[in-house]
Amino acid sequence: MMLHMKPRYGLPLAAILSVVGIASVAQAGEPQSFDQIARGRDVSIASDCQGCHTMPGGLPFAGGLALQTPFGKLVAANITPDMQTGIGSWTDEDFYNSLHEGRGKGGELIYPAMPYPAYTKMTYDDAMALRAYLRTVEPVTQDVVSNQLPFPFSIRASLNVWNALNFTQGTFKPDPNLSPDANHGAYLVTALGHCATCHSGKTSLGADEPKAFLTGGLLQGWWAPDITGNMRTGIGGWSNDDIVQYLWTGVNRFSVATGPMMETVTNSTSKMSKEDLGAIATYLKGIRGDQTAAPPKAAADTVLELGKVVYTDNCSMCHVQNGDGVSGLFPKLATNGSVQSLNATSQIRVVLQGGRGVSTQAAPTAPAMPSFGWKLGDAEIAAALTYVRNSWSNAAPVVEASDVKKLRDNLGGED
Ligand code: HEC
Ligand code: HEC
Ligand code: HEC
Repeated sequence: MMLHMKPRYGLPLAAILSVVGIASVAQAGEPQSFDQIARGRDVSIASDCQGCHTMPGGLPFAGGLALQTPFGKLVAANITPDMQTGIGSWTDEDFYNSLHEGRGKGGELIYPAMPYPAYTKMTYDDAMALRAYLRTVEPVTQDVVSNQLPFPFSIRASLNVWNALNFTQGTFKPDPNLSPDANHGAYLVTALGHCATCHSGKTSLGADEPKAFLTGGLLQGWWAPDITGNMRTGIGGWSNDDIVQYLWTGVNRFSVATGPMMETVTNSTSKMSKEDLGAIATYLKGIRGDQTAAPPKAAADTVLELGKVVYTDNCSMCHVQNGDGVSGLFPKLATNGSVQSLNATSQIRVVLQGGRGVSTQAAPTAPAMPSFGWKLGDAEIAAALTYVRNSWSNAAPVVEASDVKKLRDNLGGED
């Protein structure tokens, strides 16, 4: 991969605009105003384009971040305005089509690891604002080979089939049954924030399963929990303020964001306005997710007894004996929706590897959880989690020692 950096301006947006001169940034057609560019930056933040299109420590939007998909490796493209290696030579239509149709310059099909199944809902005006903003970022000459998939997935034409089966093109339409605030939240969640990419169950082809809309999904060894208004497994028990606080700071009285959600909070939701986050909260709480799953099978008393001992010795100093945690520091495990997820992958992972919550401007000191993978055996971890998931009025499926072993083996050298 070739990397050549041009000098950076290192100036705030307004200063860059006056240096570059808006006229020279604008290409034929659309005139660009400061308001349009500022709107484009907000759209970029809410859509988290930067999260995937920037390598850790790399130049913004220059691409290079590898995404593991079930079919192999894809690398996010360079979307800076560089003429050769970025999207500087693209027309506005090329750019719109990449979001709306999943087709890049020259009609080339884009892999759905790029969340165009969500971005298709973006309004034309927002897409053009985003385009105007992306013209103002530093052009970086960096050739990125996006498609590193093995044959036959490397054949882009195979996406015609995937799209025909799984992709519905179309701009967001407000639901007349929802309030304007909830509709605004629906737009942010489904069109820009692409929350379903992680939080919805998936079909065997990796597309969002409509019946499992936001009721939880598995990705790269994490479980993104139910974020619908469901009372037990979802966030129905959170107030709107609780949701706003979580998205704004990564921490609230119930939960601490880790892993991929920590990245979403850091790059995206912590930089959004409180009004936008409030609209997201209103929309999420109004969704009634599917609740037809069978009730969890009861855990054996011997397992719960072992779990209580392990919990008392290793966990209670932070999460407190009654599972109440310490607000803003150590998550409350009692009546916690994500702790009662049907799938315990994220919890096993946190106990094996430990974790650190988000550090945001609003809450700069991120609380940490130590790793226990070196200290506790598979059966002890399984028992502790089974105890946590079935105490203090929690109820959730038993965690088996074999589940812990499987994840421990998969994470391999990672811890
Ligand atoms: C979840 C990760 C992810 C997010 C978020 C994301 N992208 Fe992408 N994007 C990718 C990947 C991976 C590719 C390469 C796909 C391929 O080669 O088919 C890509 C490709 C593209 C391309 C095609 C570039 C080319 O040279 O062919 C454009 C344009 C693009 N993204 C723009 C955006 C914009 C604008 C946003 C925000 C609205 C965004 N992306 C958000 C992962 C992402
Ligand atoms: C890249 C994947 C990803 C994306 C995109 C994502 N999330 Fe998450 N989210 C997760 C994971 C994984 C967790 C669990 C984190 C943990 O256990 O600490 C989570 C946790 C949450 C929680 C806490 C739930 C609980 O019960 O503790 C909320 C609320 C949430 N996400 C909302 C959102 C919203 C709203 C969006 C879209 C704006 C979004 N997420 C986008 C992966 C993602
Ligand atoms: C030193 C304090 C500390 C100890 C000891 C500790 N934890 Fe944690 N725990 C945390 C913090 C901080 C978080 C939030 C950060 C994270 O999720 O990585 C957390 C998160 C969790 C979560 C995820 C909660 C959610 O909302 O998804 C679970 C489950 C959990 N701990 C269980 C345990 C168990 C079981 C033990 C004992 C084996 C334990 N913890 C010991 C501090 C601690």
